[in-house]
Amino acid sequence: MKYRLGIDIGTGGARALLVEADGRVAAGVTAAHEAIVMQRPLWAEQRPENWWDAAQKAIRGVLAQAGAGGADIAGVGLSGQMHGLTLIDAGGNVIRPALIWCDQRSQEQVDWINATAGADMVLEQTANPVLTGFTAPKLLWVRDRDPAAYERVRHILLPKDYIRFRLTGEYASDVSDASGTALFDVANRRWAAPLIEKLGIDAAALPAVVESPERTGAVCRAAAQATGLRAGTPVVGGAGDQAASAVGNGIVETGMVSCTIGTSGVVFSHLDAPAYDPQGRVHTFCHAAPGKWHVMGVTQGAGLSLQWFRDNLGADFVSRAADRGGDPYELMTAEAAAAPAGCEGLQWLPYLMGERTPHLDAAARGGWIGLTAKHARAHLIRSILEGVAFSLKDCLDIVESLGAEVSVVRASGGGAKSDFWRGILAGALRKPIATLQTQEGSAYGAALLAMVGGGEYASVEEACRAVIREQDRLAPDAALAAVYAKTYPLYRRLYPALRQVRSEDLPRGQAAGDQNE
Ligand code: XUL
Repeated sequence: MKYRLGIDIGTGGARALLVEADGRVAAGVTAAHEAIVMQRPLWAEQRPENWWDAAQKAIRGVLAQAGAGGADIAGVGLSGQMHGLTLIDAGGNVIRPALIWCDQRSQEQVDWINATAGADMVLEQTANPVLTGFTAPKLLWVRDRDPAAYERVRHILLPKDYIRFRLTGEYASDVSDASGTALFDVANRRWAAPLIEKLGIDAAALPAVVESPERTGAVCRAAAQATGLRAGTPVVGGAGDQAASAVGNGIVETGMVSCTIGTSGVVFSHLDAPAYDPQGRVHTFCHAAPGKWHVMGVTQGAGLSLQWFRDNLGADFVSRAADRGGDPYELMTAEAAAAPAGCEGLQWLPYLMGERTPHLDAAARGGWIGLTAKHARAHLIRSILEGVAFSLKDCLDIVESLGAEVSVVRASGGGAKSDFWRGILAGALRKPIATLQTQEGSAYGAALLAMVGGGEYASVEEACRAVIREQDRLAPDAALAAVYAKTYPLYRRLYPALRQVRSEDLPRGQAAGDQNE
């Protein structure tokens, strides 16, 4: 059996990747998801059944691309967008669309959790403050606002774990993904039973939790028929997309830091023991390497900012790219290069779905500040690339303040494929940005976890040491870094200034659409 299959259930699509034992990628196919449904500002839902449809397409596609059959696959690893609330009834059916990671509707429930259990108990039990992005407040929103759905809940799953359920029939998760539920005892790597009881949540509805390389069942007959995999193929725990991506980037030893620009943006650092930001601005979660942890800062609207621009103001990029068989994002970054660094005073705040690091503000809003009649579309696009890089600098600064000594940052994710954006990132972070020979991130990490689970490598660390190689390093450009050293402090002043304006108009944590309720 030649390959391990890594499957990543992202926000934009499901990716299936076939990896050989020596780490070479044999084939990769992505099947797109339906667009996120946003009924109101700061709400975000997807249909779990659509994730499964896309996963089946991606698996069939990747087998066809490699000319492989189910018998060629020795094991499967799963990765996926974190925190999403997938609710299953007694018959194994999805009850309602999932509230996904960037959904911000649950501030009232966050406040209720802090009032009911006490913010101190939450911190003690889970190692993090509870945030609207996490799963527990989303579940309690359903309890409060959709009680008929809540009544039917028998199982609570995270996105990749719904795919596991469809593949194997098992209700299970792994320690890294469970860390993002706000119900998990991160320090002891088990459900936080006293907190769960205090909140009145049915512990029996939560899945069994394993370490990421551990087996959680095998592909069932129905899934084998649907995907072309062989019944009985083992499936390992896998990891939340950020921990899986860190494995795919080799961030499994002290001092290593990665920066991922996907829909969200994440700065991720390995930890041998849990370490906390006293203000809770970065998350302390279990790593996919057994017995290890990590800390990460998350910016909600990284690639999402550019995608929003493409979808709303970039129709001609899309049509020009379609005519030439190219990528609209390449055309957009090429146009951005016409604007000077610093965008002549134009700044972008990437808070399109509120913000986590560093503001922890579900109701933060995005925007351009500093527009003049002189600014052109090139400035608008470049300012987005710079604003996202600044929000990642916010994350990195906090990660460094926890003691990480960062000499180089490994970049991954769709955004990091752009040389131009990587250059901006190097200038803003003032760090060399390394790229790897294999830039597959989460799906690659999931396949490596399946290798460790299957005994190909003795540990996650050993697998990473064996297969992950840096390809190049981009040093910060001194002139660019000097411009950003001036504009970043201005960026830092914008959120506190605008927060005052916003909070006069909107109650804390409330989206504009809610005013009409
Ligand atoms: C991590 C997070 C996002 C999602 C989507 O905490 O919310 O990175 O996992 O990628």
